[in-house]
Amino acid sequence: MGEIAQLRSDGSLRHLLTLDGLPRPLLERLLERAAHWCRPLGAPAARGDALAGRTVAVMFAEPSTRTRVSFELAARRVGADVAIIEVQLSSRLKGESVLDTVATLEAMHVDAFVLRDADADVPDLVAAHVAPHVSVLSGGAGSRSHPTQGLLDAFTVLQRKGRIEGLRIAIVGDVRHSRVARSAWQAFAALGAGEIRLVAPPGLMPDAGEFAGCTRHGALEAGIEGCDAVMMLRIQKERMTAAAIPGEAAYFAEWGLTPERLRRAQPDALVMHPGPMNRGVEIASEVADGPQSVIRDQVRHGVAVRMAVLEAVLGAEGRR
Ligand code: CP
Repeated sequence: MGEIAQLRSDGSLRHLLTLDGLPRPLLERLLERAAHWCRPLGAPAARGDALAGRTVAVMFAEPSTRTRVSFELAARRVGADVAIIEVQLSSRLKGESVLDTVATLEAMHVDAFVLRDADADVPDLVAAHVAPHVSVLSGGAGSRSHPTQGLLDAFTVLQRKGRIEGLRIAIVGDVRHSRVARSAWQAFAALGAGEIRLVAPPGLMPDAGEFAGCTRHGALEAGIEGCDAVMMLRIQKERMTAAAIPGEAAYFAEWGLTPERLRRAQPDALVMHPGPMNRGVEIASEVADGPQSVIRDQVRHGVAVRMAVLEAVLGAEGRR
């Protein structure tokens, strides 16, 4: 399968499968539009009807709370109809291929598919086969990419720090198996971060050919020293052998972000985590719930970012 073109001939976004290679102005426009949709906690959620008459299918073959609900709310809040397909309850369990399922839903006027799959190739495969007016969005593909998570991470830093340009950002923990890390790196690098550090034990560090331009650190304290943002990652037990980490307590003892360790970062450093968190494994509860944590903001921002993305792919001029 060749590389899928994510942009239409007029430069508008058709598919969102990866942030890799997307032009900076396009990312900036999405983040600006997300700011339009973002509201403080406690305020009524923003709503629009730009996508009235459009239909979004959310089809996840891996567990999810944040991304799935966030896409559903985002689609409804920009006026689209939404179909949720529980893969475990769908005809895929009777042997129907993912492409036949997609073709079936296309016949019901689905205009966009949001897909999560352990097989990193599935969103690209679907994008290669849908009708020209249909868009495909990745909601997380294997360990390869989670583009809307990368956008919401960038949006969160931008909201809190006012810029990404020049910032020092640490991505900590199970970088090797993390689609979140790959998409966050692509977003932060495209938007001008000053330094992106990968901080991980040897077994969880990605191969040398990956994450071009990042610096690599083998100890937590030195790795987060002076950083403006510290992004902790979940241990991806589903994607590793049991031998990759020594055990949860031992991992926390060396790699858990505690209040004492956090003092090595900037005093106003943001603490980020994509969720779901393993408290007491990669992060202490005092830090996850502490004053520097923006973890709930990340979740709130996810809806605004996904509203902007859905609007971009389905509302664009020249779509049909
Ligand atoms: N961050 C993230 O992808 O969370 P979910 O697995 O709950 O969607």
